[in-house]
Amino acid sequence: MTRPIPKSFHVKSFGCQMNVYDGERMTELLGAQGMTAAGADDADLVVLNTCHIREKAAEKVYSDIGRLRRGDGTRPMIAVAGCVAQAEGAEITRRAREVDIVVGPQAYHRLPDLVAKAARGETALDTDMPAASKFGALPRRAKQGPCAFLTVQEGCDKFCTYCVVPYTRGAEVSRPWRAVLDEARALVDVGAREITLLGQNVNAWAGEDERGRSQGLDGLIRALDRIPDLARIRYTTSHPADMTEELIAAHGEIGKLMPYLHLPVQSGSDRVLKAMNRSHSRDSYLAILDRVRAARPDIALSGDFIVGFPGESEADFEETLSLVRRVGYAQCFSFKYSARPGTPAAEMTDAFIPDAIASERLQRLQTLLNEQQLAFNRTSLGKHTEVLIERAGKLPGQMVGKSPWLQSVHLTTDAAIGEIIPVELVSAGPNSLGGAALR
Ligand code: 5AD
Ligand code: SF4
Repeated sequence: MTRPIPKSFHVKSFGCQMNVYDGERMTELLGAQGMTAAGADDADLVVLNTCHIREKAAEKVYSDIGRLRRGDGTRPMIAVAGCVAQAEGAEITRRAREVDIVVGPQAYHRLPDLVAKAARGETALDTDMPAASKFGALPRRAKQGPCAFLTVQEGCDKFCTYCVVPYTRGAEVSRPWRAVLDEARALVDVGAREITLLGQNVNAWAGEDERGRSQGLDGLIRALDRIPDLARIRYTTSHPADMTEELIAAHGEIGKLMPYLHLPVQSGSDRVLKAMNRSHSRDSYLAILDRVRAARPDIALSGDFIVGFPGESEADFEETLSLVRRVGYAQCFSFKYSARPGTPAAEMTDAFIPDAIASERLQRLQTLLNEQQLAFNRTSLGKHTEVLIERAGKLPGQMVGKSPWLQSVHLTTDAAIGEIIPVELVSAGPNSLGGAALR
């Protein structure tokens, strides 16, 4: 079936922050083609930028596709992008015939060609992982808010036994030094005050600076520190194995590097960590956090946990709880194990944990993590700090910003979006703080 080239588009991103970043880049790319942004209900083209990390996330795309049918029986041109596209490829168009385009995370710079193909009624599938990076083919950064994401590294070579990322995002690749710094400057030129460097293993970033010297993520952060109008730098997500002494030291030395570290551990049991192929132990993880805290005593720590991994006993799970108690996290993400096709853990069917047990463990873990999050927020009370104003709040005169420790802060101020202002933190809830502007 041939159809007109779409004039308007809508990009909907699911999953991690890298998908948010990719979604923004697709938006800029389609905008540069002369298409206008529209709502999901009236756009000519809808791009579903999908996540494959857990089964629920992956299945969501199919119910979403069904929902795109409109009251008058028509539907937009539909593109499935992201990790489900990479993992399932042509299978998607077999399961959901409405889908016109399938495009993987390393191929979306070719979206305009795929749209043209789909309009001609041709198969439009591209899940290549080309050696040449997509980034060079994307337009310059468009105007945006004060907090920006910047992908510096993609892919993963760690092969944790439960995880699809090494298959959907491919091998670890670092973007070159110069490309990252150019994009960072471009983001600052269009309004960014804070940049979060993104990568599945962001702390494995490696490259050469303009003088040919080898650099790690700490060197890249030091170079970003020299961009005058950039005020804050963050990075996520890191792997314990790549947490170098230089990067740890950077937390104590670089004022713009915010006091927050997301360092997933997944489990507190060495037996489970081994079965997960995590390449760190409970003690080596804790030792890293001790060194990070020595470098930056006020650092807010965050992590990811999986409960109900195949073979996890009650004693293993209690090791996880005891690790959490020992660390004292500011914020955490925790998930029930989800068997993903093609991963080694999905073969451990004899050791699968019944869902009721996994759910009960998740609840116990989340209760503890929520208590810790509230406790952390309460330790902020009375602190004088700086808040980056991000958006208007719900009440008149209210604004919402971010503390250095990544907490949302609600306050009344006439400061504009993008300003960084001194604030006293005066109230603390589980998910946000109240502040009083000090000027
Ligand atoms: N099941 C449950 N959680 C998973 N994660 C990754 N793969 C799985 C899976 N198969 C979690 C990990 C990772 C986060 C991004 O998602 O905790 O750090
Ligand atoms: Fe997945 Fe492990 Fe790689 Fe993280 S380090 S992306 S959990 S394989």
